[in-house]
Amino acid sequence: MSRRKQVYTPQGGGFLEDDRQVLTEILAPLARPLSLLEFGPGQSTWFFLGLGDVKLVSLESDDAWYRAAVHEFRGVEHLELYRFENSPQLSIPEVDDRCFDVAFVDSPVGMPRRRIRLPGQVQLSRFNTLSYALERAPFAVLHDARRTAERRTLARLSSLGFCVEFHGTRRGLAVVRKGNS
Ligand SMILES: C[S@@+](CC[C@H](N)C(=O)[O-])C[C@H]1O[C@@H](n2cnc3c(N)ncnc32)[C@H](O)[C@@H]1O
Repeated sequence: MSRRKQVYTPQGGGFLEDDRQVLTEILAPLARPLSLLEFGPGQSTWFFLGLGDVKLVSLESDDAWYRAAVHEFRGVEHLELYRFENSPQLSIPEVDDRCFDVAFVDSPVGMPRRRIRLPGQVQLSRFNTLSYALERAPFAVLHDARRTAERRTLARLSSLGFCVEFHGTRRGLAVVRKGNS
């Protein structure tokens, strides 16, 4: 089996039917064309592109996953794919100055044994990517919101004044928005 097939299995990515249903409902009221920032290309990318009238920027920090994504999405329209350095404070030249209608955060890897612990964010997962997304979109949707380290990230953001709304899909989705919006 090729590397690409190993990486992009629906089960491997964990982006499930109930996630698709809830995201469809969340995105339905938003005006088109929809500009979307995604952390973690994969099954979710195909889902967003399939909604139609979407411009998508997808970001990846893992080298192997990024290479597989470049291969998978070669020539796909309305999609920009960039690599970023997984650091506590993100800087992504292609994206730093841009704004989006919504963000979807499903990266970096959050599985406990594989998670990269970042200085100042050791107990947290995806705090860096979610914070970056929330500086560029009025709201962001976090995948895998049931996991302990993701829940700590949500609690931290809540203590910083963000509103968090949990959706009980199998993997968990959380909508995070600025407190006054
Ligand atoms: C589980 S993937 C999901 C990506 C995508 N949103 C999807 O729906 O398929 C989330 C992130 O985990 C990291 N990752 C890399 N290799 C992985 C692997 N073998 N299994 C799971 N996650 C991996 C990548 O950074 C990837 O963006």
